[in-house]
Parts: sequence; structure tokens; C-alpha cells
Amino acid sequence: MINKQKASYQTMVGEGARGIRVAAKLVHLVILCFGLLQQAAAQGDFTSIDCGSTVSYTDSLGIKWETDENYISTGQNAVINIKQANVGTVDALNTNALQTLRYFPGPANKHCYDIKLVAAKVFVIRLTFLGGNFTSGSATVTSFSVSLGTAYWQDIRVSDPWTPIIREATFNALQPYSPICFQRGASGNPFVNSIEVRSLPGAAAYRLPGYILTNLFRIDCGVKSGSPSSRYPDDPFDRIWTADPPGFSIPGFTNASAPTENLPVATDQPPALILKSAWNASQISFTWNMSAFPAGPTIEPVRSYWYIFYFLEIADDLNSTETRVLDLSVDGSSNKDSPITVMSNGTTVVNNLGLLGDDGIIHVSVVPSATSTFPVALLNAVEFADAQEYDIKVTTSPAAVTNIEAIKEKLSLSEWQGDPCLAWPYNWLKCSDPATSGTSILDITALKLSGFNLTGKIPAELTGLTELTQLALNGNKLTGSIPDLSALTKLTNLQLHNNSLSGPIPEFLGSLPLNVLTLDNNLFEGKLPASLQEKVDAGVLTLSAANNPFLCFGGNRCLGAKAPSSLSTGHKSSHIGVIIGAIAGGLALLLVLLLLFLYWRSLKKPATKSVIGRGKLLAESSKVKSFSWAELTAITSNFSKILGRGGFGDVYQGELQGGQKVAVKVNNANTKYGEEQFLNEVALLSVIHHRNLVSFIGFCDEDTHQVLVYEFMAQGTLEDHIRGKADTVLGTFDWKTRLGILVNASKGIEYLHNSCNPPIIHRDIKTANILLNEQLVAKVADFGISKLTSDEIATSGVSTQVKGSFGYLDPEYFQTFHLSQRNDVYSFGVVMLEVITGKSPRTVDFPDSQASTLQNWVHSKVRDGDIGGILDPVMGSNYEAESVWKVTELALSCLDPDLSARPDMKRVHQELMQAMEYEEHHKTTILVDSYPSESTLLTASSTTNRSS
Ligand SMILES: *[C@@H]1O[C@H](CO)[C@@H](O)[C@H](O)[C@H]1NC(C)=O
Ligand SMILES: *[C@@H]1O[C@H](CO)[C@@H](O)[C@H](O)[C@H]1NC(C)=O
Ligand SMILES: *[C@@H]1O[C@H](CO)[C@@H](O)[C@H](O)[C@H]1NC(C)=O
Ligand SMILES: *[C@@H]1O[C@H](CO)[C@@H](O)[C@H](O)[C@H]1NC(C)=O
Ligand SMILES: *[C@@H]1O[C@H](CO)[C@@H](O)[C@H](O)[C@H]1NC(C)=O
Repeated sequence: MINKQKASYQTMVGEGARGIRVAAKLVHLVILCFGLLQQAAAQGDFTSIDCGSTVSYTDSLGIKWETDENYISTGQNAVINIKQANVGTVDALNTNALQTLRYFPGPANKHCYDIKLVAAKVFVIRLTFLGGNFTSGSATVTSFSVSLGTAYWQDIRVSDPWTPIIREATFNALQPYSPICFQRGASGNPFVNSIEVRSLPGAAAYRLPGYILTNLFRIDCGVKSGSPSSRYPDDPFDRIWTADPPGFSIPGFTNASAPTENLPVATDQPPALILKSAWNASQISFTWNMSAFPAGPTIEPVRSYWYIFYFLEIADDLNSTETRVLDLSVDGSSNKDSPITVMSNGTTVVNNLGLLGDDGIIHVSVVPSATSTFPVALLNAVEFADAQEYDIKVTTSPAAVTNIEAIKEKLSLSEWQGDPCLAWPYNWLKCSDPATSGTSILDITALKLSGFNLTGKIPAELTGLTELTQLALNGNKLTGSIPDLSALTKLTNLQLHNNSLSGPIPEFLGSLPLNVLTLDNNLFEGKLPASLQEKVDAGVLTLSAANNPFLCFGGNRCLGAKAPSSLSTGHKSSHIGVIIGAIAGGLALLLVLLLLFLYWRSLKKPATKSVIGRGKLLAESSKVKSFSWAELTAITSNFSKILGRGGFGDVYQGELQGGQKVAVKVNNANTKYGEEQFLNEVALLSVIHHRNLVSFIGFCDEDTHQVLVYEFMAQGTLEDHIRGKADTVLGTFDWKTRLGILVNASKGIEYLHNSCNPPIIHRDIKTANILLNEQLVAKVADFGISKLTSDEIATSGVSTQVKGSFGYLDPEYFQTFHLSQRNDVYSFGVVMLEVITGKSPRTVDFPDSQASTLQNWVHSKVRDGDIGGILDPVMGSNYEAESVWKVTELALSCLDPDLSARPDMKRVHQELMQAMEYEEHHKTTILVDSYPSESTLLTASSTTNRSS
């Protein structure tokens, strides 16, 4: 009878911290229950769902199973070949319920079974997962997550498709509605075979609100290992009690002689049949490796567990004076101070929370205490559960839930179910983070319904989501006008492009803190509200509204005044109507005249694009095209004509269907950009439009191909022209031609510095990156990819990479690695010297001079007043000396070692314009547009010059 097993536990493992915490959390709960009669369980407290099944039935235990059609509306059914499954490993399972499952293919990330619980009651919830031939065909492991109520419960990882996974939680319901949700994981479709819900009346031992207790083991001690498990109807609450684990050698009573009916058992305790057997040894000790059991997420820093021990004296070999008094120790936390007296007239229940030690193993021992008059320990039943604490205070704002339900209804998004934010947000919205928002009530902060095929109108219920900062409804088929969203006082980003929305642009948009507003490709009409125009002008709002044929803005582009009804002011007096009519008529006449004038101008100067380019036209970001690799292969005639090699990769010539020539840059460099980074760059490139920047036309991001497509620049690089490698179509590459190129290029760089947000520092200004089109209009190339300044760089001026080309690189930057826009100014100074002298910045060929650099050579010549000596001889004599002097001085000031003494790009451009004026009476060989003083496009929103 007496077992001499060695104690396998260590009392010292992490005792200090854990001991204190356990003591603070809960003292040992000892409950004595006397003579309560066991009640027959009403099966009405059971919910047994055979997921994916089409029939309801009663199983051999008498449990009624139903189909899941009343609990869920998404997902699909599958049947598996149950004969192949290892169901023998888990007895007591209803194999019938295992052979069908419901699975959830995309696009919704979250699917929920709508389970009604009774608030403040305790429930046992048991799920089974058996993929069988449903998952066995897929190459990857299926993984997904499960939530209970608002709590993220467990990750399920199905690696062996033929062995069932069982997860059972004891759950303190806090709300009457506790959905069980399945969240798509890294691979495979979520699925579930069965769901069982059992209520546990009383259940004092399981009451631990704010925790999910995931069953680790529940042992009916003293039942020989290998014996079948007990559940309903033996246990009226259908807990599954297993026999002694295999290999367990603690001797025990297998069947107390006292009749079952006479055992005193309380309702929520294990039934007499379970208590009737027990381990019975001089020392009961065992360990359990909890670290082998998958941990669920918890807000606790240390993994914890919950245990329940049941003691009832069932032996008849004690005489009247003998009593067992026991010491229980769990991972060093012991009840030595108040030992357990084992009674024969009531069950002693001991439960508590324990913290898992560093070894990941739970150590248990039950031994007779020093005061025990019977020297043998006893244990009738034991339960251990993983205790996951979740934050019960975190809930979703009821208003957000109500509004999102209405929005889902209107937009037919019923596929997404359950709480919008908990345990995981729908994949098309963002919720506030309690850690940063300072409140545990979650609100919806972003809705991203781009490309959802949505039809109908924009739901007015959006106005109830007052915490929204971002609302993207672009790429749908929405119609109607913009509803009143003036309550969205935190909205900074509103994207409505690519829909069929109509009506006026409402005034209230001007009062929202918007910094991005996209309206392109819709049917909006009327005039852009002045308040919005002001924000655009002030540079605080990036607005795009291309392809709205009936939308007028800025007074500049009222090309198709449609639907006067929407412009009219409604029930005004006819008098005012007449006045408005007269004004409108006058405006229309003016418009016609303006158009005629512009048309005449365009006939006169066919090469300029000034008609369209002037003024604040809207960004045509939507015009950026996404190419397939196959299309690019066709466009470039299988990449047959190479134009050159750049940092990003090889550049090929191509021709689009309409005949437009393009340069196709293929990233064949060793370093590919991450997809997100690449697309971010593409998005940024697509909004940078300026006539002096090489136009970005499209991109390709397919498989491993990263390609950027730019406008083709027929006359190649400025470098080739200066080095005499290219023919100049317009005869001599004279001073005015060169000056025009400098004027244009400086404008392009100035745009990058001052009109882009974030500002862009080019970092590689050189004559090879200034390209010329058919008319020798210069455009700056090779900005963008990996050259964008992050805000951090722009403000702190700190960079870790040396970029740029030898000869153009600012020595100041080279020494300090401090990056600023003045580094571009330096490089552009070198470009100017090159244009003036025709010499490479890398040359050491300076006749009659000791100078070792181009800069020093020019300096010495300027000191000597010998301007003619530095001029490129091929330039001819057709130049104004004053103009050349001015540019030379400007170039040298750009090269000033003192950063603060250098002009900024805006100054550089202005000075070059002045130099051009000096040349004005000379023969025109290049078309230099007149430039509006500010940027020509609305895409940029920062006017702050962050350079040092
Ligand atoms: C699995 O196998 C069974 C029996 O062969 C078949 O009825 C069932 O359709 C299969 N299920 C799947 C998902 O392939
Ligand atoms: C336990 O003993 C009772 C009689 O005392 C007997 O009827 C019952 O079948 C036994 N149970 C087991 C599991 O041996
Ligand atoms: C009970 O048993 C113990 C030891 O087996 C013995 O010492 C004691 O005298 C007994 N008491 C009675 C009242 O029989
Ligand atoms: C149970 O036994 C204990 C000690 O033997 C006694 O104090 C208590 O009154 C008993 N309770 C009942 C309900 O018989
Ligand atoms: C949108 O609808 C079209 C036609 O109804 C369909 O072909 C397409 O797959 C849908 N796209 C999405 C993302 O649902």
C-alpha cells in the first residue's frame, strides 16, 4: 500500500517572486461541502454543435447534436474520411461529430459562431479540430487563432491532419453574448469540427473572472491507466475525466466499498463515481511539463496555471481516532500552515493560481503532515488548467459597434462577424490601441475599404465613427454624393478616388483637418469649396481631383460646366437668379475667350506645355500605370535596346501602344526592395510631377520583377552633350542653350527640395542625371528610390549612407555624413562649372595652372579676371559676358565650404533666371518656359525648408 516514490519537485524554483505573487493574488481556498445531494443534470444546459453537419442527431451517450446553421452564416462544409483518423487516441469523443467540419476561405479574416451564454456563469467550452483529408492535401501547416468573447484564446496549429486536437476552456462569461471566433492565420483556412458548451452551476472552484482556463488535465485518480474516460452521464456537467496517465505508478483505491449513493458530493464537484477512487500512498508526487503545451496570449509576464485538488476520505481501514492531515505543495507554494484534514462526510476542495517556474514544469506533492494520525496521503481527483489573464476592461465602444453593423449592412459586408475590434479587428479597419489612447474603450480609427467592389451610396452612419482619422473608399462602384461627415473632426485622410460619386464637393470638408483628399475619377461637379482651395494653397492639404469632367476649381479649369442645378442656390428669388445667370453668362463668355486665347497661344508655341502645365493643376496620380511583365516585354521588344545602366538597374527603350517612347528601368541590382518599400516609393514617385523632373509613367511589381517606367528622354544626358558624345539637334550647344538647361534643372531640384513632402534630397546631382528631351528641355532624373529623406533625416540631418558620385560629392557631407539640401546645392555648383568649362570634375588636366581641382582652377582664373580662359571652347562666342560671370560666381558660391554661405536652390534658380535675362536678346535656341513662382502641382504640401 505504501509507496516510497521519491519527491521529484524542487521547492526552491523561483519561490521568492512567485510566492509573494500567489499570496497576493489569492490565498488557498479551502471549501468544505457537506452532504449536498447531487442533482440530475438537465441536458438543456448543453449546446452541442456538429460543425459542417447537415443533420441533427442524438449520440450514444444521449447527447443531442445539432447542425451549425443557426450559429453561423459564413464558411463552407467539408466531409473527412474519419476511418483514417487516429480517434482511438482520445476516447470519449463523438467521432460522428468529427467527420464533418466547417472551414472559412477568404477574404474575411474573422468568422464567428454566435454563442449565447448566461452572464456571470461559468461554462466549459470544448472545440475539436480534425483536418483529415481536408488539410492533408495542402503542403503547409494550417494555422489559425481562436477567441472567446473578446479574449484572444489560442492558436491552433494543425501539423498532423489525422489526429484530433481538442481545446477545452473553462470560461467565466461576462457578457451574455460570447462569440467564438476564428481568425485566419499564416497559412491554410481556419476550420472547426465541433463545439460543445456546458454550463457549470455554482462552480466556485472555477470562478476566476478575467481568465480563460484552458484544460491541461483532469484526472480521476486511482482508475487504472488505459481505462475509458468518464463524461456525461457519469458527470452531469460533461467534464471529461481521464484515468491515471500511462506509466503512472501511484497506488490507489480503484473502487471504494461505500455505495456511491452514500458519498457526500456537492453539485459542482466531481460526481461520486469520480471521487470513489483515489491515489493512496505515503507520498504522492508528480510533475507535468507545461512548457510542452502551447501557451496562449496573456497580459501576464509569467505563464500561470490554475489547480483544483479534491480530497474525500473513502478508506474503511482507519479507526475512529485516526485522521489524515495532508500537506500540499505545488511548485514550492505550500499550505503547511493550514494543513488539509481529509473528511469522510464532505469533500475538501483546494484551488489556487500558480506561476510556472523557469523549468516549465509543474511540481506537485501531497504528503501526510506532521500532525496526521494516519501516515498515508490520499487524492481523489485533480485538475490543472493553463490560466490566461486578459484585460476584461478592454471593450469596443457600443456606438462604434452599432454604426459598423449598420455600415456592414448597407455595404453588404456581412461576411465579417463578431466584435469589429476584439479579439482582432476586421482586416479593413483599425481600432485605437488602449496602450496609447489612454482608454480601454476601443474606437474605430481607420476604415480601409479600397477595392471592395462596394456599390450603393456612402453610408451616412459613417458620421457616427467620430474617431476616424482615415477613410478610404476608393476603387469601388459607389454612387451618389458625399454625405454629411462633418462630425468626423479627426479625419485627416479621405480617399474617394475611382468611384462614380457625384454631386458637389461639400463645404464641410474644408473644416476637417484633412491633409490628404483624393477625388479623382468620379463625377463630382461644381466648384471646389474655397476653404479647401485655401488649404491647398497653404500647402497643408494634398488634393487630387483629376478626371472629374464637371468639377471646377481655382477658377482655372472649368472645362465642362454641367448640371447647373447643383450649382444654383435653390429657392432664391428670381431676381438673384437673374443676377447669378448674368454673372454665369459673363464668366462663360470669359471662359470661351480664355480658351480661344490659350488655343491661339498653343498654335503659336506648339512645343510648350504651358497651357496645361501652368497653374495649380491637380495631381494625376491615378494616371500611373501598373504594367505586367509580359506587357513590358512587348513594350521593349524583349528588352532589346539598352539605353544605359543606373544604380537601380539596366535601362531599356520601349514604346507604348500609343507610340509614346519610354525608358524602362529594370531592377537587376543585387538588392531588391521589399514589396512594401517598393510600392511606397512608387506611390511617392507617382505624385511627384514637375516638368523639370523626368516623368514617372508606371511600374511593374510582379514576382521578382521590380520595374520603373519613365518618359523617354530623346536627347540623352547633359554629360554626353558636354563631352561631345551626342549630336545636338539644334546646332551649336551654345551658352544660351546651356543656360536654359541649368535654369530648367535648377527648377526641378528646387521642386524636390521645397515642394515635396517629405522634402527630397536628390543626393546624386550630376550631369549624367540631367536628361534632355527632343527640345533640349532639361529634366532631373534618378530621384526617388532610396533617396527620399525620411523626416528624421530631414530634421536631424543624420544619414548613414554615403551616396553620390565622385567629383560631385560635397566634401562637407563626406566628412560629417550630415545630409542636407545644401549638399545638392554643392553638386549643382559642380554641374554649373562643368557646363561653363566643358571639363569633367574628375579631370586633372588644367593647362598653365597648378590647380588640382576644377573648382580651384576656376577660382584662380576668376581671380585673374580671365573669364574667357575657362569657357568651353566649343561654345563659340555667342554669349553675354555678364551672364557667364554671374553663373560662374553663382557656381562658386554653391561650392562654398561653409554650408550656410551657400544659396538655396530657390536662389540658384532665381539667379540663373536673371542670367537668362541678360541673354534675352540673343538668338533663341531653346524654349525656356516662364515659371510660376510656386510649384505647378498640388501634390506637394510642405513649404518648409528643412535644410540646415
Ligand atoms: C475525404 O475523403 C472522404 C472519403 O474518401 C470523401 O467523402 C471526402 O469528400 C473527402 N474530403 C475532402 C475534403 O477531400
Ligand atoms: C465498484 O464496486 C461496486 C460494488 O461495491 C460495483 O457494483 C461496481 O461495479 C464497482 N465498480 C468498478 C468500476 O469496479
Ligand atoms: C487506531 O489505530 C492505531 C494504529 O493503527 C492504534 O494505535 C490505536 O490504538 C487505534 N485506536 C483505536 C481506538 O482503536
Ligand atoms: C463532519 O465531520 C466533522 C469532524 O468529524 C464534524 O465536525 C462535522 O460536524 C461533520 N459534519 C457533518 C455534517 O456531519
Ligand atoms: C468585383 O466584381 C467583379 C464582377 O462582379 C468580380 O469579377 C470581381 O472578382 C470582384 N472583385 C472583388 C475583389 O470582389
